[in-house]
Amino acid sequence: MPDNPIYVTQPFLPPLEEFVPYLERIWQSHTLTNGGPFHQQLEEALSEYLGVKHVALFANGTLALITALQALRVSGEVITTPYSFVATAHSLLWRGNKPVFVDVEPSTLNLDPEKIEAAITPNTTAIMPVHCYGNPCNVKAIQKIADNYNLRVIYDAAHAFGVQDDGGSVLRHGDLSVLSFHATKVFNTFEGGAIVCHDAKTKQHIDHLKNFGFVDETTVVAPGINAKMSEVNAAFGLLQLKHMPEILHRRAAIDAHYREALHGVKGIHCLPQAGQHVANYAYFPILVEPDYPLSRDALYQKLKAHGIFTRRYFYPLIADFPMYRGLPSAGRSNLPVAAAAADKVLCLPIYPTLTDADVQRIVALLIDTSGAT
Ligand SMILES: Cc1ncc(COP(=O)(O)O)c(C=O)c1O
Repeated sequence: MPDNPIYVTQPFLPPLEEFVPYLERIWQSHTLTNGGPFHQQLEEALSEYLGVKHVALFANGTLALITALQALRVSGEVITTPYSFVATAHSLLWRGNKPVFVDVEPSTLNLDPEKIEAAITPNTTAIMPVHCYGNPCNVKAIQKIADNYNLRVIYDAAHAFGVQDDGGSVLRHGDLSVLSFHATKVFNTFEGGAIVCHDAKTKQHIDHLKNFGFVDETTVVAPGINAKMSEVNAAFGLLQLKHMPEILHRRAAIDAHYREALHGVKGIHCLPQAGQHVANYAYFPILVEPDYPLSRDALYQKLKAHGIFTRRYFYPLIADFPMYRGLPSAGRSNLPVAAAAADKVLCLPIYPTLTDADVQRIVALLIDTSGAT
């Protein structure tokens, strides 16, 4: 094993000395959580940075998804994608909803609007699409279907921090959008997440739900949960936000480097960016096609043997996990595009401290197919 392993991602950490003054303020105030000053400042700073009306911070993205479903009182069946991180569908099970999987489009690997209508039943109440890899969904077509059938739309926007389409933030679409600030994300608060919503009343309701349902000292209006972001995480987010320009600049350069170097390599298909006016370069997915000399898994193993730890996001499909595979919509014949992508995809390393030499090393291994190791 080479002694300098490269992982699919590495969280961005600002210089430690920049974080110390934030910690000193927390120590002085003794306010550690429950909507303290850093929490409030980060909600405001993110609303401004992202160009959205309201941001409610959460302890993580999964609790934000669960709370989003609770806030909209979603019941019954929810149409969603099988091609995502498992938390998307798990949030539905936590709320007692039934996931109904619909296939994805080949170009973006996002929920295919043309296949949604056939999956709607009298029990359908919502659609939960994912802006996979930060590529915006076909939001217009999805909203049209939602309007026709009176369905709610909750976007799992865990990958879409800062992404804009030609009209502004991609987070403005649907009833609610949910972000993750997990350590692996473009913007991280160690652990964290948020719900983006459009009006103050909904924001207030969400704020109650993430604090056990308390509206004041003695009144509880719903069986809410503890999903509050702490002051340490919020403070880190404020600092991280200052570094976003350099983070995005470096990610963009790596993305361009890969695209140029891999252009024309037979059997390697770089997933195109689709519909972003501003991208976030969160992932670098390639599809390993049958005319590449190695199978996807052989390539994955070869890179691993050279200390390059890629990830097969998203393999297995959510629909293949034991708690989902018995569902009528989970069969691979219902999900041919997602199933094919899950068998071909490999996400290459992309993160701000990845050097040009690292990228060259990875590209050289992809181009040199003379041996399995
Ligand atoms: C698409 C998607 N949804 C939801 C989540 C869950 O977010 P968290 O890890 O913050 O709970 C993640 C990532 O972790 C994700 O990639």
